Amino acid sequence: MQTAARWLLPWLLPYSAWTRAAITEESHALNFVQRKVLPRVAPPPTLSAVQSVPSQPWLMHKYIFVAHHKAGVFLMGDLKTSIFRALGAAESDMGVWSQPCYPGECVSPEAPIQFWMDLYSYERAQEAREAAGAKGMRVVGIVRDPVSMIVSAYCYHHRGEELYNLMFLPELILQLMGPKEGLKFVAERMLPLVANMTSAFELPSNDTFHLVYEKVTSSSVGFDQQVGEMTSFLFQDLITPAQRSQVLNATQSADLHRHPAVGNHGNDQECEDQVRKYVPSLPPELLSRYRSFQERLGYAVP
Ligand SMILES: *[C@@H]1O[C@H](CO)[C@@H](O)[C@H](O)[C@H]1NC(C)=O
Ligand SMILES: *[C@@H]1O[C@H](CO)[C@@H](O)[C@H](O)[C@H]1NC(C)=O
Ligand SMILES: *[C@@H]1O[C@H](CO)[C@@H](O)[C@H](O)[C@H]1NC(C)=O
Repeated sequence: MQTAARWLLPWLLPYSAWTRAAITEESHALNFVQRKVLPRVAPPPTLSAVQSVPSQPWLMHKYIFVAHHKAGVFLMGDLKTSIFRALGAAESDMGVWSQPCYPGECVSPEAPIQFWMDLYSYERAQEAREAAGAKGMRVVGIVRDPVSMIVSAYCYHHRGEELYNLMFLPELILQLMGPKEGLKFVAERMLPLVANMTSAFELPSNDTFHLVYEKVTSSSVGFDQQVGEMTSFLFQDLITPAQRSQVLNATQSADLHRHPAVGNHGNDQECEDQVRKYVPSLPPELLSRYRSFQERLGYAVP
C-alpha cells in the first residue's frame, strides 16, 4: 500500500475497466439466480458433500472494505486480508482501488472482494449496489471523527511521513508549516474526501456496516466486540462456527493493542493534543463544514 514508488506519476485506471467490472457483476448475478433455481430439480447434496466443500461467501455477495485517509486505512487492509485468507480466498480474489491510483496499487478490479481507499461516497455506494445486482453487496467502512482525521493528518505528514502523497503536494510544504497554517491546509485538501466519507456513512443501510474507529482502536475488548459484530454482519450463516472462530482469531493480528505496529502509522499524542488547540482558529466557513460532518456522523460537537 505504501510503496517506495509513491512519488511516480499516478497510473489512472481507465474508466472502461470499471464499466467492464459492472457488466461482469451483472452476469455473476444471473448465475446466482440460476444457481438458486437449479437445486430445486437437482437431488439434495449429501451431508458429507456439504461438509467437504468449505463455503466461499465471496461467491454469494460482493464484499467491499472502505477506508479514507487517516481513518484506519492500514487497519482495514489488514482486517480484509486476514479475514478472507482465513476463509481460503486466493490473492486473485482480492482487488484494490484507490484514488489517486499510485503505480501498482490498483489491482484486480473485477475480484469479488475489494478494498477501496479514499474514493467511497454516497454516489459510489449507489453504483456499487447496482453493480452487485441480485448478489447484493456487503460493505464495511471505517468511520472516524472528521476533526480527528485532520489533526492526525497534520501530525503524520508534518513529521515527514508519505512526503509524496499527492493530496498534500508540493512535497515538504506541510513540514514547513506550523500547526495553525498546516491544519488549515490539511482541512482544505481533505475536504472532498471527508465530505464523501460523511455522505456515504451518515445514513444507516442494511448492506453496510460502520466500523467505529474510536471503538476498534480503543482496546482489545473494543476491537473484539466491533470485529465480532462486523463478522456476523458479513457472513451471517454463510460460514460455520469453526470458520467464524478461525476468522476471529486471524483478525487479532490487526489489533494494534495486541500487535503494536512496526512501522508507525499512528501519531504521538502530544502532537495531536497541541494541534487540536488550533481547531477553533480554522477559518469559520471551513470549521463549520467540519462541524457539520461531525454532527451528521453522530459525533459530539462542542
Ligand atoms: C467524492 O465522490 C465523488 C462522487 O462519487 C467522486 O467523483 C470524487 O472523486 C470523490 N472524491 C474523493 C476525494 O473521494
Ligand atoms: C435490506 O432491506 C431491503 C428492503 O427492506 C431488503 O430487500 C434487502 O433484502 C435487505 N438486505 C439485507 C442485506 O438485509
Ligand atoms: C490463530 O492465529 C495465529 C496467527 O495469528 C495462528 O498462528 C494460530 O494457528 C491460529 N489459531 C487457530 C486455532 O486458528
